[in-house]
This record gives sequence, C-alpha cells and structure tokens, in this order.
Amino acid sequence: MQMKLKLTVVALAAVTGLAVAQDAVVKIGHVGPMSGSQAHYGKDNENGTRMAIDDLNTQNVVIGGKKIKFEIVAEDDAADPKQGTAVAQKLCDAKVSGVVGHLNSGTTIPASKVYNDCGIPHITGAATNPNLTKPGYKTTYRIIANDNALGAGLAFYAADALKLKKVAIIDDRTAYGQGVAEVFKKTALTKGMTVVDEQFTTDKATDFMAILTAVKSKNPDAVFYGGMDAQGGPMLRQMEQLGMSNVKFFGGDGICTAEIAKLAGGAKTLNNVVCAEGGASLAKMPGGEAWKKRYDAKYPGQFQIYSPYTYDATFVLVDAMKRANSTDPKVYTPELIKTNYKGVTTTIAFEPNGELKNPAITLYVYKDGKKSALN
Ligand code: ALA
Repeated sequence: MQMKLKLTVVALAAVTGLAVAQDAVVKIGHVGPMSGSQAHYGKDNENGTRMAIDDLNTQNVVIGGKKIKFEIVAEDDAADPKQGTAVAQKLCDAKVSGVVGHLNSGTTIPASKVYNDCGIPHITGAATNPNLTKPGYKTTYRIIANDNALGAGLAFYAADALKLKKVAIIDDRTAYGQGVAEVFKKTALTKGMTVVDEQFTTDKATDFMAILTAVKSKNPDAVFYGGMDAQGGPMLRQMEQLGMSNVKFFGGDGICTAEIAKLAGGAKTLNNVVCAEGGASLAKMPGGEAWKKRYDAKYPGQFQIYSPYTYDATFVLVDAMKRANSTDPKVYTPELIKTNYKGVTTTIAFEPNGELKNPAITLYVYKDGKKSALN
C-alpha cells in the first residue's frame, strides 16, 4: 500500500514537476573587462555566458534532485591584474559554483591562484598565455588554443606563405602581449626571418608615432603587434599616416576582432592585417552559424570574438555538475577533467593540465572592413 502510494506520488510528480518542488539557485561567475578600452570584448564574453544561462534555464536542469535556476554573477576586472584578483576573491566569497573567465592573460593568471585556493573551478575562453596552465591547478581550464599555437602559426605563415624576411616586433608589456610576441619572435628566427626592431608600449597608450617612426627607419616587411585592438586599431591609422602602407601587420587573437576595423578608422592598412584566433572559424564550428544567428538576434552588433567560447565554457561547467550530480565545486570539479562535451565551438576534452585537446587555429585577414578566414 505504501509502495503504491509512493508510486502514485512519483507519477503525479512527473506530471506536475512536484518531485523537484524546490528550486535551487546556482550562481556562475563571469569576469572580463566591462569598463575601459576593452569593454567591447568583455561585453561579448559576458553575453556568451548570459546566453548559455538563459538556454540552461529553459532546459529544466535537475541536479541532486533539485530543479536548478542558474544565475550569473557578473564582475568587471577592467583588464587590470590587481582588480582581477580582487574580483576573483569576491566571487569566492559569493560562493559561486564556477567561473567563466577571465578574458586577459594578465588577469586570468593571478586570478587562477585565487580560484585554486578557494576551490572554485574557472574556464577561460579567451586568455591564451601558456603560463596559465603551468601550475597544474585542478581548477583551471582553457577551451581555446594557447599562444604557442597562435604565435608559431603566424610566424610560419609570414615566412612560408608570404616569404617575409624582416619583421619589427612591438608589444604592450602585458602577460598576453609580451608572451605572444616572444613565441612569434622565436619561431620567426627559426624560420630564418630577421627581427629588425623591438619596441614596447602599454595597453593604455594611444600615440605610437615615436615607436612607429623608429620601426619605419628599419624598413621591415611586417610588424608583429602583441596586444589588443584598442592599440592595434590606432596603430594601423598611424602607420598609414607615416606612409607604412606596404607593411604587413601581424597579431594574435587580441587584435582579431570586429572592432579593430572601426578602430582603424578607415585606414587602408587594415588590409595588411593577418591575425590568428585559437579555434575554428564560425563557419567550421559544429554549431557556429546557427549559434551566431541567435546571438546576433539577442545582442545585435555586439559580437567580437570569444562569446561562442564563453557560451561553451558555461555549459562545460554545468555538464560536469550534472555528471557529479552536485553543484558543489568540491564534488564536481574532479569531473571537469573527464569532460567530453559537444559544444558549439568543438568537442571539448582536456589534457591533464587543463588545456583543450586538439585545439584548432584560424588565420584571418580583413576584406572590405570584414574579418575573413584564411583556413
Ligand atoms: N588572448 C588574449 C589574452 O590572453 C585576450 O589576454
């Protein structure tokens, strides 16, 4: 009799949803630069996580017997390393179940220690410096290729496809800019290219006339810029002003945005850009085009580069929670390394150090102001 009653309750619950009567709220943190000259990247990344959370909330996700309502806790690190660790601690204190972020290597690397100390996993869909995974934290994951692939891929293209000989290297002295420039330089040298000049700037600078004048005097075939589009765009404008119209302009994912076309302000030197991104082009991602349509409808004109990855990163966290049947980071973090998740961007699985297995890289140029994939 008791058994029968129980079955009836379960059957009733299946119809009415009563078995999972209690909703539980699970908080997922997102961090990127939401203010300052990199806010457009931050917004794009945050949109990816928001879209994932909205989608998850339509899926009636049940974990540990509770129907889960996911909520984003969105933070701004302003691309600043100190603010990066401060907001990481804030997310630890807020007891989020996981974090998507950060965006910049300069913030993600120091923040990764904070997350490791408080035992909350984070997945970046944007930070590319290889040093991020060196400490071997069980809480750190990356779902794009790192700068070893980007810097080398660009140098191979410069030497083998374009047969360029002389390159000048400029970087913004951030963990990202410096790191990707070093890999490019090392690979370019092994390919027989000559580094004719090295100059430095910052991720706050807007005037590059002095360093570009020095670079111009060395007559390079190409400039490699390790940094972001907020500097890359104006640099292209100033190269045009200085008559450096035949100099190729290489850079990593940091300059590989929709925004750089605007920031270059109509300079023809935009046509000299070759940049690399640590994943497949939208056209070659398993779910890329359909996903991008939905994104554009939800966030018109805001797409930059990394939002498909922050979207997938959010789902990867939840996929691990589902497999562990727990939203407690201590319980579900060990599931992350066993991830085998078919995302929008690719099938995501991890190396033992938290790097993505088999990452793709794509090279891009700009045609008529639009980013266009070379491979
Ligand atoms: N890939 C860039 C970085 O690591 C955004 O900072």
